[in-house]
Amino acid sequence: MDATAPTTAATPTAFDPKEFRRALGMFATGVTIVTTTAPDGAPIGVTANSFNSVSLDPPMVLWSLANNARSLEAFSESTHWNVHILSNEQEALSNRFARAGEDKFNGLAMDTQPSGAPLLPGCSARFQCKTAFKYEGGDHTIFVGEVVQYDSCAVPPLVYVTGGYALAARKAAPVSTEPLAQLDGAVYSENLLGYLFGRAHFQFLHGIRGTLQAKQLSDTDFFVLSLLSVRQPLAVPEIAAHIAYTGIDSSAASLQSLVQRGLLEQEAGGLRLSAAGTDAILHVLAAAKSVEADLVDRMGEMESAALRNLLKQAILATDPGLPKLWQAPAPRDA
Ligand SMILES: Cc1cc2nc3c(=O)[nH]c(=O)nc-3n(C[C@H](O)[C@H](O)[C@H](O)COP(=O)(O)O)c2cc1C
Repeated sequence: MDATAPTTAATPTAFDPKEFRRALGMFATGVTIVTTTAPDGAPIGVTANSFNSVSLDPPMVLWSLANNARSLEAFSESTHWNVHILSNEQEALSNRFARAGEDKFNGLAMDTQPSGAPLLPGCSARFQCKTAFKYEGGDHTIFVGEVVQYDSCAVPPLVYVTGGYALAARKAAPVSTEPLAQLDGAVYSENLLGYLFGRAHFQFLHGIRGTLQAKQLSDTDFFVLSLLSVRQPLAVPEIAAHIAYTGIDSSAASLQSLVQRGLLEQEAGGLRLSAAGTDAILHVLAAAKSVEADLVDRMGEMESAALRNLLKQAILATDPGLPKLWQAPAPRDA
């Protein structure tokens, strides 16, 4: 058979390339950067999700590179290459190595590389490989490598699925979809998001209730003090605008009680934490950090990263238009 014949000639139907890609995208993968060194010594790297394990003994892996990739020649001529399994914090690096022609290694810190191929730090795992086989694979070249060295670290990996980056989370024990309650024909199950949000919120807060009580802080006090620990001073209407979504009383009178108890101080720009207020909220935040550490410990780093991501999405999707708390404030009018 003519090795250069287009592969489509052998396919039973003419695939729509977009649809074919979409179908392939249903297969969730990790994301890797594969690096090598060009004959002139230049570092070479490319983002690839075609990576897969091949053999345990001998240890072998594979990946495939498009025949029109600029890096093809370097990989074809090199005897060693390194596969980096990217962590969930290396999305920008993935994008950088997916752009052709850029000086991909510019400003990047590198670990020392005994094989000669660049070794990037901060990854979930790395495999240093020696080329074992090369195969033609349609419009790609398949590289099979023998793993000569590897290391891994408990940083959650980055995932790629349906054409976008994702985070992995292990599935919890199956959540019942059986209706738990039926009221006038309306059916509620354990999967009701409102129930899950509410219960998770209160169970989390339960862990800091003791500290709130010891510091004689109500929920209102807690919200106001923690708001000012992020940004201060804030005028009364600004505080109200920030915490109105909680439905708690943020009237001037309730804020005044925090001033009277010596937790807040009034200054020209608005209210700010006093030394006692700072001390109180630091204790509560320390308790919250400890509850969080316990939660992350029980759930795992990977699930915690996925949970943070999903909570941010839910907050964005339900945002009533709150002032941005975590961004630098707009300059005040003179
Ligand atoms: C998540 C992701 C996975 C990719 N996987 C591959 C792959 O497995 N093989 C490939 O040839 N290109 C893949 N690419 C595209 C290459 O990274 C891209 O074409 C890159 O520009 C090639 O670099 P080069 O032209 O400098 O060789 C992927 C891109 C992304 C964003």
